[in-house]
Parts: sequence; structure tokens; C-alpha cells
Amino acid sequence: MQIDKNLFLLDHPLIQHKLSLIRRKDTSSILFRQLVNELSSLMVYELTRDMPTQLVQIETPLESMMTPVIDGKKLVFASILRAGNGILDGALSVVPGARVGHVGLYRDPDTLKAIEYYFKMPSNMHERDVIVVDPMLATGNSAIAAIERIKALKPRSIKFLCLLTCPEGVLALQKAHPDVAIYTASIDRQLSDHGYILPGLGDAGDRIYGTK
Ligand code: URA
Repeated sequence: MQIDKNLFLLDHPLIQHKLSLIRRKDTSSILFRQLVNELSSLMVYELTRDMPTQLVQIETPLESMMTPVIDGKKLVFASILRAGNGILDGALSVVPGARVGHVGLYRDPDTLKAIEYYFKMPSNMHERDVIVVDPMLATGNSAIAAIERIKALKPRSIKFLCLLTCPEGVLALQKAHPDVAIYTASIDRQLSDHGYILPGLGDAGDRIYGTK
């Protein structure tokens, strides 16, 4: 469902059902990870609907035909470490040929600002479409900083995929990068004073990796 020009709520019943399961505090890390994989596959499937295709000639066992294949250089999934990595397996199961970039950012616990400690992207970014992935769009600081760095490489397009966000995160990202479409499975009520999404699902990285 399109909420506004560059904000899309992925409201497929399977996506919504799996999201409800991962929100529950008693969902184990094993199940959480598995569901995040499944959610990521479903969401990437929706997000890649408008990927450009081109017609190529192939030979079937019976005759030749023109048939569509994905056009252009391989897509990039850019993961915002560390929680973004939880999205990668599911994303790559849908687009196995995609390239993967990483942006290492941590939130300063006092200012909640994003501090970069790692940045690595594939070559020829100017010819590629990028999907930046992070399960939670909360303050928006990490997403804004990551997208700023990626934009400097002049990719063909950038989309942002998160499982959950809140009005504050959407507003911040849209203000900083109005050209980047946001895809999410939920826009929750609000951001807490500590930078958590409410009602949310807690700390996505801790829940994926069992580090709480
Ligand atoms: N990051 C998380 O993992 N959870 C939140 O609620 C906000 C940011």
C-alpha cells in the first residue's frame, strides 16, 4: 500500500502475520531469525516488482523466443551493521546474484548520532540499484548517514527497506533524503526517549543474534 509518494507499507497478510510473531517477547532467537529471513524474502520480492527487464532471445527445446530477463548490473543490498545482516539471507534467497555492501555504524548512546566504523561497497556503483537494509528505522540517524555515504558513489537508485519504523524515523529520513523510497511492514506509534520504537520488537540486533 502506498502511503505517500515515497513511503510504502507492505501489508501482505503473510508479512503482517510474521511481523506479529517476531514482536512477541517470548519468541526465541532461533525462531526470530527464521522469521526475519522469511519476512525479508517476502519484502524484497515486493520491493523488486519494478526492476527493469530487457527482452533477450533464447532457444526453448522447440523454437526460439524473446523473453524478459533482469536488466543492468547486479543489484546491491547494502546492510547497515549489524542488524542489517539479519535481512541479508532472506534478501539473497530472492536475488541470489545480488552484490552485498556493508556500512558499519553504531549509535552513540548519549547523542543517538551515527558514528561510522566500516564502509565497503561493490565496484561500479554508478551503474547499480541499491536497497539499503536495516530492520529498524528509529531515529533515522544511521539510515541518513549510510545513505549519504552511498549517494556519494552515485548509484542508479536507492531504496530503503526496514521491518519497522515510526513517524519520527520516516520524517527524519524523508527530510534528509526525499528521493529515497521507504518500504516497511509497519509504522509504529512512536519513538521512545531512548531511541526505541514503541511498541516495536525490542533491540533487533540482540534478538537476531541472542546477545541480550
Ligand atoms: N533499533 C532497534 O533494534 N530497536 C529499536 O526499537 C530501535 C532501534
